[in-house]
Amino acid sequence: MRKTVDLDWANLGFSYIKTDYRYISYWKDGKWDDGALTEDNKVHISEGSTALHYGQTVFEGMKAYRAKDGSINLFRADQNAERMQRSCRRLLMPEIPTDTFIEAVKKVVKANEAYIPPYGTGGSLYLRPFMIGVGDNIGVKPAEEYLFSIFCMPVGAYFKGGLLPTNFMVSGYDRAAGNGTGAAKVGGNYGGSLLPGREAQQKNFSDAIYLDPITHTKIEEVGSANFFGITKDNKFITPVSPSILPSITKYSLLYLAKERLGLEVEEGDVYVDELDRFAEAGACGTAAVISPIGGIQYGEDFHVFYSETEVGPITKKLYEELTGIQYGEVPAPEGWIVKV
Ligand SMILES: Cc1ncc(COP(=O)(O)O)c(C=O)c1O
Repeated sequence: MRKTVDLDWANLGFSYIKTDYRYISYWKDGKWDDGALTEDNKVHISEGSTALHYGQTVFEGMKAYRAKDGSINLFRADQNAERMQRSCRRLLMPEIPTDTFIEAVKKVVKANEAYIPPYGTGGSLYLRPFMIGVGDNIGVKPAEEYLFSIFCMPVGAYFKGGLLPTNFMVSGYDRAAGNGTGAAKVGGNYGGSLLPGREAQQKNFSDAIYLDPITHTKIEEVGSANFFGITKDNKFITPVSPSILPSITKYSLLYLAKERLGLEVEEGDVYVDELDRFAEAGACGTAAVISPIGGIQYGEDFHVFYSETEVGPITKKLYEELTGIQYGEVPAPEGWIVKV
C-alpha cells in the first residue's frame, strides 16, 4: 500500500501547503553549488537582494501526476527548464542546465511523494521552481549571487463540478509592454496583474483578458493563461506576440489539435471585435489546464461563445486528450512524459 499524507484530496484547492522537502542551490563566484534538499521553508537573504528591489526574480509552474499505473509522470519538464533559461537570459541571471533542473524536480517529487494526490482524485503535485538575485547590493545592476529553489504542494482539480465555462472581462490595463518582459516568466509581470485581476473579479468575472499593448485590438492573455479559439469551420487558433508568455500547454494543444483531432491549426491574430468567427474558446495553462470561456465582456458588449453553462465538444476533446496524457491514460507523444 502506497503511503500518502492524510489530506481531503477531493477538496484541495490551489493554496500553499507546506510539504516536507524543497531543493535549494546557490550561485556564487560564477558557479552553482551541488544543491540539496532541505526541510526549512524559509529563505534568509540580504536586505540588499536585487529580487526585493529590482524584480530580479523568475519562476516556473509545472506538475507531477500520479498515473493510472501507479507511476509518477512529469509533463514536458524540459520545456519548463528551457523557458526558465530564457527568462534568466532576459534578466541577466545565471541559467540552470536542463539536466540539473529535471534532476532537482525529480528529487523534490520523490522526497514529497506522500503528498501526490492519488490517481482518480483529479489532483496533482504543483511544482514551483524559482530563482532570485540575492546578496549585498544597492545599485540597479544584476546581483552577484543567486538562489534557485523548487518547492511543491498538492493542488486539487481545477474544476470540481466538471468542465464548466466561466466569463472573462477585457481589461483596460496592459499586462506587459510591447517590447518588454511579457514573454518571460518574471515576477514583475504578475505584480502588475494583481489590480486588473481584482477589478475583474469584483465585477464577477473569473479574470482579466489583456489586449496587445501596441494597438489594443487583439486578445493576448487570459489572466495567467493563454487564449485559444475554435473557429466555426473547426480551425484551432491561438495568438502569438512578443508580449505573450509562450504557454507549454498551448504548444501542446496546437500539436494535439492537429495530430490527434485532425484540426487545422494556426498561430495568428485574434481581434477582439471579431469574436463571432469562433464557435468555442478557452484559456489554457498548467494551473488552468483547459478552462472553457463562456463569454467575454468588452466595453458594453458581452460575447457568448459556445454556451455560458456547457463546454463545447472540441474543447472537451482537447481536455480529455491532454489530461489523459498527463495521467497516463492516453499514449503520449515522444518525449512528453518523464517518469520520476
Ligand atoms: C501569463 C501566463 N500565461 C500563460 C501561462 C500558461 O503557461 P503554461 O501552459 O506553460 O503553464 C502562464 C502560466 O505559466 C502564465 O503565467
